[in-house]
Amino acid sequence: MDELARIAPLRERVSGWRRQNHKIALVPTMGNLHDGHIRLIRQARDAADRVIVSIFVNPLQFGPKEDFAAYPRTPEEDRRLLDTAKADLLFQPGVDEIYPAGHQHSTIVDVPELSGILCGAVRPGHFAGVATVVAKLLNIVHPDLAVFGEKDFQQLLIIRRLVADLCMPIEVRGMATARATDGLALSSRNRYLGAEERQLAPRLFAALEAARREIESGTTQFERIEQTGMQNLVEAGFRPEYFAIRQAHDLQPVQDAQAEIRILAAARLGRARLIDNVKVEPRQANLKAGSTSA
Ligand code: PAJ
Repeated sequence: MDELARIAPLRERVSGWRRQNHKIALVPTMGNLHDGHIRLIRQARDAADRVIVSIFVNPLQFGPKEDFAAYPRTPEEDRRLLDTAKADLLFQPGVDEIYPAGHQHSTIVDVPELSGILCGAVRPGHFAGVATVVAKLLNIVHPDLAVFGEKDFQQLLIIRRLVADLCMPIEVRGMATARATDGLALSSRNRYLGAEERQLAPRLFAALEAARREIESGTTQFERIEQTGMQNLVEAGFRPEYFAIRQAHDLQPVQDAQAEIRILAAARLGRARLIDNVKVEPRQANLKAGSTSA
């Protein structure tokens, strides 16, 4: 696998591939790769002729009190995993290459509304940082396809929105969340968990699953289910930030009975901030009622 740190040679390489009519996929990451990232790369591999993976720990998406400096950086292990996953090219730019005038002075891409709720309410400026760097990476590479994880469901929606709003001719694909066998969503930040916390951590997914089952069995008392979810997390030792039942397409509270539903939660456990979400299958009670009356 080749590796480039500069925009100009990367563009040259991509132009060469384009002349050969190759379909190009980009998988943006912040490194410290795990099986969740590898799945995105495999999906890209299946869908395109050339796969570029970027590793860039983006200072613009970290708050002043967040873990930018401490964020795990594991370049050797990442290269090994990328070789095994058969990525064609690693793009690993320095901060100066992406923000030559300093990231505080960068033009900002901001997706309104979606960026201010849920994680955006707790981490002001975070999603503008994500949207800005993703727009830059998409402009640098001009891929046909870009792959992101549903683990960061709000981020995925924001990226879909920016690609549509900025008229980028790029297909955005979302991939299901990769989990450990006990249900914990894989994340680079799981390494902040101590041994005891690691035992407790799957209870975030368990709380989401309990809420999912309740809604799928026909309950529509969403506020009560959200409160129970928060309570479950507190009892398990988390400091929950939100536990929210939302419409999947805009992350607003459920107003349309036909809307697909997503349950999303964020909670702190020790030093780690964990997020997760699950999809609610279309209400089975309604479907059953529909099929009997048909
Ligand atoms: P990072 O956390 O490294 O994640 C890179 C990509 O991997 C994202 O699309 C994320 O949703 C996906 N991912 C992470 N854990 C996953 C899991 N358990 N299952 C499936 N996919 C998973 O997200 C970012 O980096 C950054 O915000 C980025 C988009 C690169 C912009 O800086």
